[in-house]
Amino acid sequence: MKKLAIFASGGGSNAQKIHEYLQEHPFAKIDCIVVNNLNAGVISKAKNWDCEVINISKNDFYKDSKISNLLISRGVDLVVLAGFLWLIPQHLLQAFPQKIINIHPALLPKYGGRGMYGMNVHKAVFDAKERTSGITIHTIDEEYDKGQIIFQKSVEIESCKSPEEIADIVLKIEHENFAKTIHKYLQK
Ligand code: GRF
Repeated sequence: MKKLAIFASGGGSNAQKIHEYLQEHPFAKIDCIVVNNLNAGVISKAKNWDCEVINISKNDFYKDSKISNLLISRGVDLVVLAGFLWLIPQHLLQAFPQKIINIHPALLPKYGGRGMYGMNVHKAVFDAKERTSGITIHTIDEEYDKGQIIFQKSVEIESCKSPEEIADIVLKIEHENFAKTIHKYLQK
């Protein structure tokens, strides 16, 4: 059984959906949840998931290979970023080559890069009067949102009257596709 480490420091809804998917498709287990703040919504969600929650400080994340060594020693196969904004350090990229994936709430390469996260993305898409937006699931490298694209799905947003409406539609397709994509990716 494959082991996932989910890095999630936002609301945790994608982590929740991955957990639910794994109940029906037990191809993997969530070995640990990594957060960078104790207010992360995923912490209370994960209480009943039989996995460890690891809170990492910025210093520990960047200073040495502590987190990489920990994940290797736990036998983690894939690192899944689901609402984790810190740039991934070199030691972690080297420890998990092509094995760190992220979900981005827009159709990269548009609306990606530093500062393009959360509502910033949806506001930019709305202001640009885009007719479609969507999601991108991609591997991680040294730059924000520049890795290899694994999966994209677009969605019509012409009828959306606000960035919030776009956010709702996009999050729904994240929930429908992230776990499935992880499943396929690990079968390769
Ligand atoms: C998602 O919109 C995802 O695309 C982005 O961060 C958000 C996380 O949402 N990377 P949640 O914490 O899973 O609810």
